[in-house]
Amino acid sequence: MAQQNDKFKALVAHCKEYGFIYQSSEIYDGLSAVYDYGPYGSLLKNNIKDYWWKAMVQMHDNIVGIDAAIFMHPKTWKASGHVDAFNDPLIDNKDSKKRYRADVLIEDYMDKIEGKINKEVARARKRFDDFDEAMFRSTNERVKGYQAQIDEVAKRLATAMTNNDMAELKQIIEDLQIADPEGGSRNWTDVRQFNLMFHTQLGNIAGEEGKLYLRPETAQGIFVNFLNVQKTTRQKLPFGIAQIGKAFRNEIVARQFIFRMREFEQMEMQFFIQPGTQKKWYDYWKEVRLNWHKALGTPAEKLRFHDHDNLAHYADAAVDIQFQFPFGFKELEGIHSRTDFDLSSHQELSSKKLMYFDPATKESYVPYVLETSIGCDRMFLATMSNALINEQVPGQDDENNRRDVLKFHPALAPIKAAIMPLKRTNPELVEKAKGLFDELKLSCHCQYDDTGAIGKLYRRQDAIGTPFCITIDFDTLEDNTVTLRDRDTLKQERVAIDKVAAIVRERTDMSTLFA
Ligand code: GAP
Repeated sequence: MAQQNDKFKALVAHCKEYGFIYQSSEIYDGLSAVYDYGPYGSLLKNNIKDYWWKAMVQMHDNIVGIDAAIFMHPKTWKASGHVDAFNDPLIDNKDSKKRYRADVLIEDYMDKIEGKINKEVARARKRFDDFDEAMFRSTNERVKGYQAQIDEVAKRLATAMTNNDMAELKQIIEDLQIADPEGGSRNWTDVRQFNLMFHTQLGNIAGEEGKLYLRPETAQGIFVNFLNVQKTTRQKLPFGIAQIGKAFRNEIVARQFIFRMREFEQMEMQFFIQPGTQKKWYDYWKEVRLNWHKALGTPAEKLRFHDHDNLAHYADAAVDIQFQFPFGFKELEGIHSRTDFDLSSHQELSSKKLMYFDPATKESYVPYVLETSIGCDRMFLATMSNALINEQVPGQDDENNRRDVLKFHPALAPIKAAIMPLKRTNPELVEKAKGLFDELKLSCHCQYDDTGAIGKLYRRQDAIGTPFCITIDFDTLEDNTVTLRDRDTLKQERVAIDKVAAIVRERTDMSTLFA
């Protein structure tokens, strides 16, 4: 656990030191759970969005994109169920005056037991050469005991959440003797429901009439535009509408850096289907989305499916793709079978038909919807935690010669190549290097750097994850070749200067992810 905490702290520090993420309004001591993306962070985030958009929209001829407004008619949120049901159970500690999510306190309790299991597994792995983890988990009495505890608490939690039973949530906290993580006190208030939507007021309209919500999910902008898009693009079912945009939630527990934010970005796709086919499409999108993550080189053991124990008000089936963050396996993406809940509710409240005429069956019906929804910021955090490595410099014998390197997939790397003259005082080297930079910048983000010794410049580029460094040296002046250094292997190849731009383009292009 201490090791995991250290890794997470190092990640947060790296994000700040190298211009990926800053606390919002830092000069005023920051705003809790709100963050700004710096120069490299915004490039990485754009690349993540580009990868998602290309995979979902460009690669599917039956998925189109939109960009809906953040503000929507207030009735939208009544129809969607968010006004009545988008709540988290909150509890206050009377002594520390700290506020918590009751379900998260209980989940943290289960995580602690999971930590004990992981310790047992790690100890056993060291003892046996041909260690079979599944067998160990199913036969070791201590591990079985811990797992039974987790299962029992998980069952109680799921039932209480499904039934909106706040008294039972308080009872679970008391039964498990859960203490305030900060002060250690067990002096709790009752559990209350807390609506997560932010709101503001429209122009000069006072009261409920003018109450505007900041959207808590981008999906509703897609639902209300369903017929507009279907008619103007002449799509036939099944077809999808994709969108990337900001969402806002007044989260009670705002911690773990950009994992849980109050302002964040979602990448969502609603796939409209014939009623009755939802199981087929649910399985299909589970596989497609998992493969999207795997294509980045994310190790399979860091990704897993986790069925929802307690379904959202709109879903008849739901699963998370969880990623192993430095603080454990947590939700990265959701795949939800949303039935016809949203379209039917909007149809009812707006009194406007949201039906599809199926030319194949000659019937009109409200389509069912399969949703894939991933937080861009969470994907950013997963990408960073996967990529950041502190390692002994490859090829060096000295154990203490270490480097911090971000081993991003080249297509996601913020800067694709750095160009460096071996000697900045030599005008011929500088001219050649700047010439190459001017050529390369036409097709990708690259950097010219002559501000230090080559070794130091390499380390700086490793720390921001640049896949290629190109050095212009004295041989370049003789034979027009340059050194191309690979970030991960540190192998250096000699290539013709007029070929280098094409090589970098080819090796860093997004299409390598779709191959
Ligand atoms: N339209 C469905 C929906 O919004 P969700 O599970 O509440 O479902 C989808 O959210 C994804 O949005 C999550 O898997 C997560 O990646 C991201 N997300 C949700 N709340 C977030 C928050 N407070 N901060 C960052 N990302 C968040």
